[in-house]
Amino acid sequence: MSSNLAVKLRSGTQKAHTAAENVGFMKCFLKGVVDRDCFAKFLSNLYFVYSELEAALASHQNHPVIGGVYFPELNRLAALEKDMVFYYGNGWRSLITPANHAKIYIARIQQLSASEPALLIGHAYTRYMGDLSGGQMLQKIAQSTLKLSGYEGTSFYNFEQIPDKKAFKDKYRDALNGVSVDDATADRIVAEANNAFSFNVQMAEELEGSLIRAIGQVLFNNLTRSHNLGSTEAAATN
Ligand code: HEM
Repeated sequence: MSSNLAVKLRSGTQKAHTAAENVGFMKCFLKGVVDRDCFAKFLSNLYFVYSELEAALASHQNHPVIGGVYFPELNRLAALEKDMVFYYGNGWRSLITPANHAKIYIARIQQLSASEPALLIGHAYTRYMGDLSGGQMLQKIAQSTLKLSGYEGTSFYNFEQIPDKKAFKDKYRDALNGVSVDDATADRIVAEANNAFSFNVQMAEELEGSLIRAIGQVLFNNLTRSHNLGSTEAAATN
């Protein structure tokens, strides 16, 4: 019997999705306004989040609920490590730390893993379906804005084992619908997906300060790039 979990998740997180798309950081990103440092920081937070999420999902892969939607081909950790080397060099591990909201997000994943692993589905859904959807647009924008070639610095968005994303998303939705949970649990999974959206929004908001400074710098550089002939020199040549 179908739990309709995919349908419930999609409709139950529509408002949260709209809110996520409307965060300043995302709106700037979509307009091609993103700088290398902010993007590296954004990915480094995701490195900490996916470390925790993927360890939790792997440890519960035989759980009756998690097992039904466990797809290791989604795993992003190795790709994020590649990106960390790209941005921070081989010593990256000692150069990155999770931002405050990444720590809060991680703590929630740990808590669920210890007490209510079924709710981790809400987290997996929110991140992976997002990475396979809007994430693919963000990759193209990051690649062209930051002048990166291929997937260098954007490996995170490169699902090497999932060539057909549309087909995979259909498969993932079928798997979600096939998960056997009662209505109350399904509602709690949807509520948890909404929490996941809000953790992501808060992480993005935390980056806005540095993005605004970067935008200020770009604007300043543009405004001051030309070297004008001074008024008195200009007058002297007349
Ligand atoms: C600039 C920001 C974003 C854009 C442009 C965007 C765009 C999209 C699009 C076009 C889809 C539909 C894909 C499809 O039906 O196959 C989608 C789905 C989705 N996005 Fe986003 N997205 C953005 C940000 C986010 C964020 C921040 C998250 C969460 C962290 C997220 C999570 C999701 C999820 C879970 C779905 C799957 C919905 C479903 O079919 O159940 N998105 N996104």
